[in-house]
This record gives sequence, structure tokens and C-alpha cells, in this order.
Amino acid sequence: MLQKSSLPKVAYEDMNEMHYEEADLINHLFKEIESGSDKNVTTAVEELLEHMQKHFEFEEGMLKNRGFAMFDIHRNDHARILNETRMAYMNWRNFRDREALKEFLEDEFIEWLNLHIQAMDSVAAEFLKKCSK
Ligand SMILES: [Fe+2]
Ligand SMILES: [Fe+2]
Repeated sequence: MLQKSSLPKVAYEDMNEMHYEEADLINHLFKEIESGSDKNVTTAVEELLEHMQKHFEFEEGMLKNRGFAMFDIHRNDHARILNETRMAYMNWRNFRDREALKEFLEDEFIEWLNLHIQAMDSVAAEFLKKCSK
């Protein structure tokens, strides 16, 4: 389980909303890993991947062409976790290993989400707040 309230908050409300939505999908996936059918687990990973793309496109769309210094670093960090999650999805499809998928979520994905929000989204949110003034 990922406590939504434990996620770092940023100064841009729409970004926080996006992170809460992602936390809901992660928790839904945990539930399916615990007690759902293989098919439901597959669907839940696909939904998470779709939401990640929406989340990243949303942030990158707001940040690009605005002279944001950290744009490339931020975008690369999105691309990296997206690739790793796709790899975890392929592993799931090949081996149906619930424990491995759960470990990926706990040890890599949630870790990444917390660090990324703290180190990158918070800076981006401050930048966007200044832009909108
Ligand atoms: Fe984000
Ligand atoms: Fe981000």
C-alpha cells in the first residue's frame, strides 16, 4: 500500500492530483497482485503504464519551450522509469511472478516516485507557479 498522504506535495495543485491518481492505480495493482486473476493483474499494470504516460506528457507539455533549465534531466528521468516499468510488465507477461512484480513496485517504483517528486517535480512546480503569475 502506498499512503497518498505520505507523498511529497508540490506547489502546483494539478500535479499533486496527478500523483494521487497514480497512487490509486498503484494501490489497485497491489490489490490485484494480492488476490486478483492474472488477467486483472495484467490490466492493472497496463492502466498504470497508461497513466504514467498521461502524467509525464502533462508535465512535459507544461515545461517545454519555456526555457526550463532542468527540462532534459526531468524528461530523461520520466523515460527511465517508464522503460523499467515496461520491462517489469514484460517480465510479468512472461513469468507471471507476482512476488517479482510486487518487489518492483515496492523497491523501485514507489522509491522512484517519492524521489522524483522531491527532487524534480517540486522544482518544476515552483517554476510553473512563477510562469503563471
Ligand atoms: Fe510528477
Ligand atoms: Fe515529473
